[in-house]
Amino acid sequence: MTFMRTVLLAAVPLALAQVDPPGPPFPNSTYPNATDPLTDSGAMWNETSPPSYPSPWGTGLGDWADAYKSARAFVSQLTLTEKVNLTTGVGWEGEKCVGNNGAIPRLGFKALCMQDSPLGVRDTDFVSAFPAGVTIAATWDRALFYQRGFDMGSEHRDKGVDVQLGPVVGPLGRTPEGGRNWEGFAPDPVLSGIAVAQTVKGIQAAGVMACTKHYIGYEQEHFRQGAPPTSVTESISSNIDDVTMHELYLWPFADAVRAGTASIMCSYNQINNSYACQNSYTQNQLLKNELGFQGFIMSDWSGQHSGVSSALAGMDMTMPGDIGFDSGTSFWGANLTIAVLNGTVPQWRLDDMAVRIVAGWYYVDREANQVANAPTFSSWTLDTYNYQHFYASEDWTQVNYHVDVRDEHAADIRNFAAKGTVLLKNNGALPLSGNAKLTAVFGSDAAENQYGPNGCSDRGCDNGTLAMGWGSGTDNFPYLVTPLEAIKAEVLSHGKSIEDVIDDYAYAQQNALARRVTDVGGVCIVFANADSGEGYIIVDDNEGDRNNLTLWHNGDDLIRNVTSFCNNTIVVMHTVGPVLVDSFYDNENVTAIIWAGLPGQESGNSITDILYGKVNPGGKSVFTWGASRGEYGADVIYEPNNGVLAPQEDFAEGVFIDYRAFDKLGETPIYEFGFGLSYTTFSYSNLQIAAHAAPAYTPTTGDTPSAPTYGVVSNNTADYLFPADITRIPAYIYPYLNSTSLSASSGDPLYAINYTFPAGAYDGSPQPLLAAGSSVAPGGNQALYDVLFTVTATVTNTGSVEGDEVPQLYLNLGGPNDPKVVLRNFDRITIAPGASETFTADITRRDVSNWDTVAQDW
Ligand code: BGC
Repeated sequence: MTFMRTVLLAAVPLALAQVDPPGPPFPNSTYPNATDPLTDSGAMWNETSPPSYPSPWGTGLGDWADAYKSARAFVSQLTLTEKVNLTTGVGWEGEKCVGNNGAIPRLGFKALCMQDSPLGVRDTDFVSAFPAGVTIAATWDRALFYQRGFDMGSEHRDKGVDVQLGPVVGPLGRTPEGGRNWEGFAPDPVLSGIAVAQTVKGIQAAGVMACTKHYIGYEQEHFRQGAPPTSVTESISSNIDDVTMHELYLWPFADAVRAGTASIMCSYNQINNSYACQNSYTQNQLLKNELGFQGFIMSDWSGQHSGVSSALAGMDMTMPGDIGFDSGTSFWGANLTIAVLNGTVPQWRLDDMAVRIVAGWYYVDREANQVANAPTFSSWTLDTYNYQHFYASEDWTQVNYHVDVRDEHAADIRNFAAKGTVLLKNNGALPLSGNAKLTAVFGSDAAENQYGPNGCSDRGCDNGTLAMGWGSGTDNFPYLVTPLEAIKAEVLSHGKSIEDVIDDYAYAQQNALARRVTDVGGVCIVFANADSGEGYIIVDDNEGDRNNLTLWHNGDDLIRNVTSFCNNTIVVMHTVGPVLVDSFYDNENVTAIIWAGLPGQESGNSITDILYGKVNPGGKSVFTWGASRGEYGADVIYEPNNGVLAPQEDFAEGVFIDYRAFDKLGETPIYEFGFGLSYTTFSYSNLQIAAHAAPAYTPTTGDTPSAPTYGVVSNNTADYLFPADITRIPAYIYPYLNSTSLSASSGDPLYAINYTFPAGAYDGSPQPLLAAGSSVAPGGNQALYDVLFTVTATVTNTGSVEGDEVPQLYLNLGGPNDPKVVLRNFDRITIAPGASETFTADITRRDVSNWDTVAQDW
């Protein structure tokens, strides 16, 4: 069944696919009040984003009530400039964290420290390097999702971080080439949603605010910020229809909101030609109104493109605060003070920003989780002494305390990565006994980076074994156990022999060693990788996004060479996502294939645990392995496609990404999403489905309260002049006025031009709740989470060793436009040999619902 229809709008190229044969009326799949429900396609070239105002004020829904009470009491005491200070960063490298807002010294409220990354504490020392999102996802284990979050949150807390800039569910992984997919979990909304919720809970249980990012439609690196200084000046527009938004990209954000994420980062891209950080539809309507998000929206670094507009459209905090890095100018700061004084931003909107930020602080109990000298590190240097204000070179002092926050996390990390390792093929070669007479290890991916594990800034190179991708989503390794050293230690513990060739191009040496292995009945282990990362670093011509899906460093040739002589070759791949394995996966000399993901610091130990059977593999692939990139149905846009204007990225495939695309297009993957072998076998029986009597779904009705304000803002501009007792730090962003004249203070030649801000933006009166929203708790209409069915099945371990199985529940929703199947639940169960366990999976109302674009409800 096809899901696209021709668009009949003027000025829209009619190149969009024609359907055949026409199915039942496809409902209006764009936004409310769009033209004709019968003819609107999903994603449209030059799509526009409808306005949604006013920006919803937080009401302290659900378990946010206490935090709101405290936050309101606190914000009530603040002056206008103190409130503005909460919302605005001090500028790039103005203080020690990657992002820092202003402090409120009068009340002893310290500036907040915002620090990457989603896999550890970035830009400092004595921290752990955890497995990346893609690897923890492959464990399919809720308890491990949570534990990793808690461990990471603990390290951030102990370094003095207030907001961990993670986890990631945008990108979701629309295209396998997307550079930052590995920071997130999986191109499936349910797996990602469960993983993000557990991660958020873990991080926040440790007393640190999570920042779930990047909201939303941020699916590629090319043109994420235009392509200056070349022709394209605007960021790419992700054109997404209403169904795809709800059923795919918004889904895991809903789980993050429901789990209580204290903050959400708006992304660099545009959505339907409106920048994410000033998109009133995605921020006001979807996130704050429909999902009832109670925390604050923080901009990605320089993701803000306007002052008043972004405030009215729901953004709450600008990072790093300056317009260009170190420009000394800001859309907010003093300009937000001016905007409140001249009425272009209503006081209630600023108060709402402040309350949301402080409520997040109370919600995770930051008060009880302070450490001495926080933040105890500087992102800009590892030296003990340097400048407090790094960019301005001011205030020489101790900036790094070198606090070792790693605790006992190494054991967890080793376990996470082993549990997230996926066995794709095994002809009986694995597990290894350790008694092979000769073990041969091949490939640079087995060994050290010659510059050291942290030798390339933000891991921006692919030398040696790959244990994380590159970009801001990284941290420094405290050490990196390579596969070669761990395998060597294992082999030596058996008193056997091991040799290696780590030069990927030393074909003669590879061949010679491979022959000797075959001669004595030994084993060859080939390591290869594929890397990607964030677009500000280019590695091997890959501008963040991968240029292709092949193994790097001629991995295919390496495998071909070794297998042409070695009849017992085990291939281990450290990759950011799927790679093309068609040249070797069915070669009979390839006796096993393992995906080892991005394992973090314990890489060698984790893979050795799997290879030698100390851990029985139970990880399952979190993406589909196809035979060509074309099979994935969507791809990265690498070249401008709209002249100098914003490139248009039509998400025309709708909800059909990864396995849903393969199913729709009738393609057979090499290894399917959810696939993974074990050293034992399992059988399934006794599938039962029990229906529950749940109350009927009731669309939410009623109104919000009116917008509250806290404290009185004096109109006397003299109250906000730059204080005489503060010395200006160059390029630092302050909330203060330079003059009692607002116009002079703004310094903007366009000040007071006649401009009409969107209707409704200033309306602080009670607003109608959305049918899909809630007056009870964050996450949308609470009836969505009613359990309608429970599925159980018996899973039996039919082999001779203990093992983990991951039963996965897929549904067909039955509609004409639905994927063949969608994942809806799973569990990871450890089962003793010969024993049986019961798999139990709930199905909620949301799990069996479609988004109805006409009713604007599920
Ligand atoms: C990235 C964010 C990151 C921020 C701060 C941006 O370039 O997109 O993910 O948190 O920088 O480092």
